[in-house]
Amino acid sequence: MSKAKDSEKQKQVAVKVEALLKKMSLEEKVGQLNQVGGAAFSPGPAAEDQIRKGGAGSVLWLNDTKKFNELQKIAMEESPSGIPLLFALDVIHGYRTIFPVPLAMAASWDPNVPEKTQTIAAKEARAAGLHWTFGPMLDICRDPRWGRIVEGAGEDPYLGSAMAAAQVRGFQGDDLSDSERVLACAKHFAGYGYSDGGRDYDPVYLSEAQLRNIVLPPFKAAADAGVATFMSAYMDLNDVPATGNRWLLRQVLREEWGFDGFLVSDAFAVGNMVIQHHAKDKREAALRGLKAGMNMDMSSYTYTENAAQLVADGALTEAEIDELVRPILTIKFKMGLFEKPYVDETLLEKVIALPEHRTASRWAAQRSMVLLRNEGGLLPLSKDIKKVSVIGPVADSMQATEGSWMVFGHTPAAVTVLEGIRAKLPNAEVTYASGPEIRRDIPSWFESLMAGQERKPEQTPAESESAFQSALEVAKAADQVIMVLGETDVMAGEAASRASLDLPGRQEELLKAVSALGKPVVLVLLNGRPLSINWAAENVPAILEAWEPGTEGGNAVADILFGDANPGGKLPVTFPRKGSHAPLYYARNMTHSPEGSPMYNPRYWDGLPVPLYPFGFGLSYTTFEFSNLKVSAEKIKVGASLTVTVDVTNTGKVAGDEVAQLYIHQQYGTDTRPIRELKGFERITLQPGEKKTVTFSLGANELTYWSSNAGKWIQDPASFDLWAGSDSQASLHAEFEVTS
Ligand code: GLC
Repeated sequence: MSKAKDSEKQKQVAVKVEALLKKMSLEEKVGQLNQVGGAAFSPGPAAEDQIRKGGAGSVLWLNDTKKFNELQKIAMEESPSGIPLLFALDVIHGYRTIFPVPLAMAASWDPNVPEKTQTIAAKEARAAGLHWTFGPMLDICRDPRWGRIVEGAGEDPYLGSAMAAAQVRGFQGDDLSDSERVLACAKHFAGYGYSDGGRDYDPVYLSEAQLRNIVLPPFKAAADAGVATFMSAYMDLNDVPATGNRWLLRQVLREEWGFDGFLVSDAFAVGNMVIQHHAKDKREAALRGLKAGMNMDMSSYTYTENAAQLVADGALTEAEIDELVRPILTIKFKMGLFEKPYVDETLLEKVIALPEHRTASRWAAQRSMVLLRNEGGLLPLSKDIKKVSVIGPVADSMQATEGSWMVFGHTPAAVTVLEGIRAKLPNAEVTYASGPEIRRDIPSWFESLMAGQERKPEQTPAESESAFQSALEVAKAADQVIMVLGETDVMAGEAASRASLDLPGRQEELLKAVSALGKPVVLVLLNGRPLSINWAAENVPAILEAWEPGTEGGNAVADILFGDANPGGKLPVTFPRKGSHAPLYYARNMTHSPEGSPMYNPRYWDGLPVPLYPFGFGLSYTTFEFSNLKVSAEKIKVGASLTVTVDVTNTGKVAGDEVAQLYIHQQYGTDTRPIRELKGFERITLQPGEKKTVTFSLGANELTYWSSNAGKWIQDPASFDLWAGSDSQASLHAEFEVTS
């Protein structure tokens, strides 16, 4: 749409919004700031009653197309001003067709993957009657003990920013009136991934430099991509709950970034300010949220119970309420909901049946998987193999294959790894044994919410031992063993932090016992976080990181194991050797006793925290060589740009993908800068023997940072190292200088 037409449209919407605001009572305006919980576990008055009196702007935790239309009818025909509702749900990596978890999609290092998958997720969700998803989750995390690392893009702000913008484009498209898209929601604003020890919900302390250089860039990328909404994080950020944090919600988001959409709190978070010992009571919590610019209260009813009285008491003006309501009405007009508030109830079944949805899921899963080891080229396996045993507690689990964050009411329907291998080898004998079960020591609160997930009674030690022995028997009879180990779907995600990164239960014990049989063993990991698979990394010849790959996950694993797809993914997060080594990340500052120096051993005398696998790491069935790294200028002035080129050659026998990565290091400056920082990447496909030149640009965008010393954004004149290669330990080196 042309700029002129677009601004004309904006003006027309603004006129409608002002006219509607003039008509609305204060109670109705407060109603627009209220998001009603549509599920049994969310307390509060019945949704119908709140909607009927104009006391609701949105409904969440409901996944029922028919019910959406019923509630919308009440809003349109029975409420005082007939304002349509926004129906919202967490569609994080698929609605009915499930895609790889976001951490896996980040491992593709290909923004086309999340853009494509979230486009499909939006189409399915919208066909179901949803208008708004609570995604993308943009929390940078460098401590994989935190269960929600599964929902983000890992440890790096540059990769995270690319994935953020791609997901916003996928969910929203470029026109909010598109009836096959949904509103996106940049969450959790901000810093949620930095709680001490990865303990979910715990308070977060971050310097302004950490916030501006590491945590905020993906949110800024989402804002620049036009994300319609933001969600505040649960926790205290530097002693102020994000939900009532004026610096974050007004100064940064609105004044500096010019964000003109609206914010929703996380679940009950406005009212939670009392529980967090921040607000004296819910009246004050309401005031804190409203003054901070928190538009919508997710299901704590703190605004509906207090906002009108705050205006009556003069603590707040009606104009301040109007300012919070305006963007909500604006977005509802832009979506065309006043004209078309209802969903066609026959649409969903047609949309989810589209074959290209599952095709896309298999494609995304293939591109997300990371080959961690392949000693002696054991992979790909031959399809002529006669007897294969598939062993492990998640090998035939649809839940573990689809992973964390399924939408309410979703029935697991994934192709498991076992099923994918059987489909790939119709003439082979593919046996299976689960081995001892794995489960959390402390159940997840969410397990009680998920239909059909009533906790089965725990395996007795005798049952566990018998399962262990029968798995060994199955392995003994096979020519090739494929171990499928990792985590269940509730071992990562919300309220799923853990102190250890080891394989849960007796999985490593079983892996060692099976390996001792002397058969060739391949390990496939299904997991939502880095795992400290130290023994496997030394003793299992082939290891494929498959993450939580979604509906077609089993087929995608089989495609890779048997050579129909060549893995090209790279790790978006460092794999530590121990949970207690976290936080561990590549972009850290130099110290006075660098790695390798005699003084280095203070970093734990019981084992140096060298990563098991570094950020950016991933192998292929072919090999690549980086050469001819060049810069277009040895020196540039502050503010100018230079071009970096590097040649990548496929030096192997099969076609494959490589991710060319560019890292910089500012050698000195106003502040100390990290020893390496990712500032460019491109995934390319190369035929055997083919060479491509990859081009990157470095300029103010890449070289400017927030300085603690100067208290502002600066670009230093300084000397820089740069490296190009296949992971964060790349060695091909060049230098350039920025002069004042
Ligand atoms: C949850 C999560 C948030 C989610 C919201 C609504 O507790 O923190 O990510 O979007 O509540 O379900």
